[in-house]
Amino acid sequence: MGDVIGETPQLGSPIRNFYVQLSPTPRGARLARLLATGQLRSWGLSLDPAELIVGELAANAVTHGRVPGRDFRLLLHVIGDTLRIEVTDTRSDRVPYVGQGGVDGESGRGLVLVDALAVRWGVSEGPAPRKTVWAEVRLPPEPGAPCRGARGGLSQGPHG
Ligand SMILES: Nc1ncnc2c1ncn2[C@@H]1O[C@H](COP(=O)(O)OP(=O)(O)OP(=O)(O)O)[C@@H](O)[C@H]1O
Ligand SMILES: [Mg+2]
Repeated sequence: MGDVIGETPQLGSPIRNFYVQLSPTPRGARLARLLATGQLRSWGLSLDPAELIVGELAANAVTHGRVPGRDFRLLLHVIGDTLRIEVTDTRSDRVPYVGQGGVDGESGRGLVLVDALAVRWGVSEGPAPRKTVWAEVRLPPEPGAPCRGARGGLSQGPHG
């Protein structure tokens, strides 16, 4: 299946959306990470920690969530100060879990990292046979954005 890339029109809207459908291969996982960093750069957003999270979730989709011939999908979605990363694969019979890290010390680290880096993350099931592993990260305020707590800002800080 061919790769499909899409982006919603910007038209001055603060909502940013990007998706890409990729083959469930190591190359597909690498591409997911590369395309995500390109997109985040073009939005002027920080790659840290999103790049790492995309890399881990995409690697999981193509190893543990892989069904040959069925693409996986990456979606990046910005709303306000939150970047939501979604990676959808087509194996709903296996679910992600946070381990302690493998005994070899070289596996079982991906979701430990995601858990540490994301504000929250989780798994949503469906539509069958799909599942989506998602993670949200907080974005630093963009230059020029109204500053919370500053004089004339949106709200006052805890000390007035
Ligand atoms: N998309 C997925 N579909 C099904 N199972 C998953 C998925 N992602 C993770 N898992 C399960 O959760 C476990 C933990 O995932 P995690 O990414 O932490 O470790 P790993 O992929 O085994 O090793 P590492 O990420 O360090 O290479 C996996 O071993 C796998 O059993
Ligand atoms: Mg992993």
